[in-house]
Amino acid sequence: MHRVLLVGLLIVSLLIGSHSQRFSKGKSSIANTIVNTLDEISNQNDKLKMLIRSFFDYQSTSTKAPEPAEAECLCTPFYLCNNGEVNKDGSKLFEPRLAQESVNPCKTLGEICCEPLAPSPLRKKVEGIPSNFACGFGSEIPGDYYISAATTAKFGEYPWTALLLNLKYQYQCVGSLIHPEVVLTTAHCINESEKYIARVGEWNATGKTEPIAHQNMRVKSIVIHPKFVVDNLMYNAALLFLENPFKLDRNVNTACLADSSTLSYTQLQKSKCAATGWGSDVPKGVYRRVMKKIEFSLISNPSCQNQLRKTRLGKWFQLHQTFLCAIGKNGSDLCNGDGGGPLVCEISGQPLRYLQVGITSWGLDCAQNLPSVFTKVASIKHWIDQEMSARNLDTSYYTPM
Ligand SMILES: *[C@@H]1O[C@H](CO)[C@@H](O)[C@H](O)[C@H]1NC(C)=O
Ligand SMILES: *[C@@H]1O[C@H](CO)[C@@H](O)[C@H](O)[C@H]1NC(C)=O
Ligand SMILES: *[C@@H]1O[C@H](CO)[C@@H](O)[C@H](O)[C@H]1NC(C)=O
Repeated sequence: MHRVLLVGLLIVSLLIGSHSQRFSKGKSSIANTIVNTLDEISNQNDKLKMLIRSFFDYQSTSTKAPEPAEAECLCTPFYLCNNGEVNKDGSKLFEPRLAQESVNPCKTLGEICCEPLAPSPLRKKVEGIPSNFACGFGSEIPGDYYISAATTAKFGEYPWTALLLNLKYQYQCVGSLIHPEVVLTTAHCINESEKYIARVGEWNATGKTEPIAHQNMRVKSIVIHPKFVVDNLMYNAALLFLENPFKLDRNVNTACLADSSTLSYTQLQKSKCAATGWGSDVPKGVYRRVMKKIEFSLISNPSCQNQLRKTRLGKWFQLHQTFLCAIGKNGSDLCNGDGGGPLVCEISGQPLRYLQVGITSWGLDCAQNLPSVFTKVASIKHWIDQEMSARNLDTSYYTPM
């Protein structure tokens, strides 16, 4: 009896392994196919069929991690099994904070989904380095464009936040300005056969209601982190080098970047953190017109890993060291279209000055009181420095002094 069960389980795991890609599209029909196939293989074994059925029922109704199995194999939900190996890094299970094609085929901002943003002239003029320059400071720009909503940024408050557009001025992702001619974003935002425009100084993406205009610049070249893995989003970072520098202004500044030497996470866990973007508030929702600000509290990687192990990622899930987690305050969260945006935390002892610690990468659903996961800037800072030096670009634009 035991041996029959074992052989049966082997067949199940083989069939499951070979179908794992299609499962996300039609779980039940594939489950039925497997059950039918097994009917042919061993149609006398009712016990085995029951086992298979309950296995699939269990999957379709629960998002919790499985209980330890008594069988003599490693019982793993089908989506955690990759060719016989347990999926420990969450490959293909994350939800990247990407603009969603199915919802908004033209990926535009605002309520009129298919209308591109108004084209505006590309900057040409080259400027020198301002003498009083300091990264990480926002501005208080007076005017009637403040909205008293907890999740809306003020104009000029997070002036390093950039929009990534395609050549039709359609919204692709968020980024952060780290040098007048360099934007940092995630690798999962980039389609290497596309061309991009970066926009900074923006607030109301559907109108021109701001007292200082935004600026656009064409992206000249893109470098994706050499260790980026698309399935599990490790090293999810890309640098965009622009044709000409942006002019720094009250609504345009560079972000200060965290590195392992300047960063004390224990300290940052107490500080005020926020992420910005124009993504939707709910999955499949419309994009924000006005810049979104979500306040976050950082959590440690072990605690984040524990929380994520209770989800469909499973109890073997291992959070990679290039990730950083945070939980949105009051249940607010980032969502689709926020990918690539900066997560900044107030530098202790320097009120209103912020350090970029993360790049918005992925989550499981939106606003479910689960951690949002970011690329940890400190873990890729060395690579950024190298790419900058290779181009003779001044790293003091993102170094807090
Ligand atoms: C969270 O809720 C408190 C109390 O209602 C409120 O004062 C605060 O502004 C809220 N913060 C955010 C980020 O929503
Ligand atoms: C990347 O861009 C090319 C050219 O616009 C397009 O054909 C392709 O479908 C895109 N790939 C993805 C994954 O979006
Ligand atoms: C944003 O711009 C649109 C279009 O001009 C306008 O209708 C809307 O009121 C603006 N929103 C804010 C908050 O200024």
